[in-house]
Amino acid sequence: MLSTVLRVLTIAVACGAVVSHASDAGREQRSDATNVASDLESWISWQREQSFARLLRNAAPGVAPFTRRVETKWVSPERMALLRAAEARGAVRIEGNEFEQIIIPRPGAVVAAPAASPPEPDYFFHWVRDSAVVMRELADLDAARAAPLPEDLQRRLADFAAFSRQLQSSDSPEGLGEVRYNADGTQDFLKWSRPQLDGPALRVLALLPLVANARSPAASAAAAEAIRSDLDYLAANWTRPSFDLWEDFCWHNYYTLAVQAGAFERGAEWASERGEAARATEYSTQRTRILAAMDAYWSEEKGYLEFAHGPAERCTPWGAGAGEKPGDNLESAVLLGALHSRRSSGPHALIDERVLATAVAIEDLFTSLYAFNRALSAEEGKLIGRNRGDQYYGGNPWVFITLGFAEFHYRLAGVLGDAGSFRVTTANREFVRRALARVGEPSSEPGLGVLAPAQMATLLRGLLLRGDDVLRTVRRLTAENSGALSEQFDLAGGTTSSRDLSWSHAAFLSATDARREAMTGRDCE
Ligand code: NOJ
Ligand code: NOJ
Repeated sequence: MLSTVLRVLTIAVACGAVVSHASDAGREQRSDATNVASDLESWISWQREQSFARLLRNAAPGVAPFTRRVETKWVSPERMALLRAAEARGAVRIEGNEFEQIIIPRPGAVVAAPAASPPEPDYFFHWVRDSAVVMRELADLDAARAAPLPEDLQRRLADFAAFSRQLQSSDSPEGLGEVRYNADGTQDFLKWSRPQLDGPALRVLALLPLVANARSPAASAAAAEAIRSDLDYLAANWTRPSFDLWEDFCWHNYYTLAVQAGAFERGAEWASERGEAARATEYSTQRTRILAAMDAYWSEEKGYLEFAHGPAERCTPWGAGAGEKPGDNLESAVLLGALHSRRSSGPHALIDERVLATAVAIEDLFTSLYAFNRALSAEEGKLIGRNRGDQYYGGNPWVFITLGFAEFHYRLAGVLGDAGSFRVTTANREFVRRALARVGEPSSEPGLGVLAPAQMATLLRGLLLRGDDVLRTVRRLTAENSGALSEQFDLAGGTTSSRDLSWSHAAFLSATDARREAMTGRDCE
């Protein structure tokens, strides 16, 4: 009953939030506020179309062949034999100090970004992580729709399942901990940070909705086999050190554990529904162990969840920064972990007080680091980067992390709307205060304990406003880009890394899906 009341309240609050963006700041007239709001709405619809189209352009079929030419000094020593074998097959030409390969993407492959030349990085690979984030978005769109996805999209999802199986049974020296493959399904010959054990977990989370929704029994079977392989591999390997998602540090890290916990949690439910009792028990045991290991990342003294722990062992470090971590051990990837694991309750879900405390620390870190953010008012959304020590392409704020920060607020509003009540604690109080203060009500200072219904409604509204604040900053900075979303924001002049990143588009779609869900979707439209 209470939950029904809150649901209704959420709808009213959320839909109300649309027209209150600017009026609550007292700066603009109500009619202006409505314009500002509809402006945001129409930009969201427009950018969603752009993102969807660009995302599909990076998923085969539709990705043009690419010729890679690289100096052989970048070939990983333990992959030299693979390169020679490819040469013998005629798939690669070695000439002087370079090798050349023509890559014809196979159906199911998703490149992290379109082919590009320096100074943009070469992201023309099927990264297990990036492709899973992208395909998860497509699979979610499929699951959320009343009508089935058009034939073409269903085909792409089925191809992704089949391609995943093919990669899992390929001859990668790294096994299922492999980070990325060529888009034609062959091995990446280059030196890279391996293993990365978040990829298999993200792939499981992308494939799970597909088993249920796949319209073809073959696709469903391929997805099921791929899920089992990944989870069984992770069950045996998650305690190994892994490079983090930024491919910088070989430790145990919170993000990787978070997505693994999410994969085991959903995987256990899935196995149990299929009557695979032994697997269900195994997966749920691993989930519990991982969540317990994640508790060690909480620093009472610092007041946030740290990112990395443990000695650097077994990974072969390469490249700048490998093996070192920033002294404060504070990382936006902790929030991405809470988002990508898609756990809405229990320890380390995004509602956990420790995660909320970390969100405050992250916002403060990047407000102090970037002059751009320091110049913004409290009602303007901040740009978020990776960590304090980041120097990659200038160490700018990142597009998909900033969008993730918006999504974090939307998803939380959705979860709280469903939960119906919320307890303010010492650890989450500042996070709650910021959301309440955003609505500008005089009584916004939260006391400890369960929030009263009126303050609960204000909190939901504040979360949506804060999510929208971030989206408006993104809109401002991407206005000139004709729909492209880069990896990084161009604050320092010209250093955005990749100019059109698949993951950024998936993050835009996911954030705005979460926004619509928090506003209980169709009810507001
Ligand atoms: C490439 C990785 O993709 C990036 O995340 C990392 O920061 C640099 N390598 C550092 O070497
Ligand atoms: C660099 C990022 O750090 C990494 O997470 C990502 O997988 C690659 N770029 C490709 O987008």
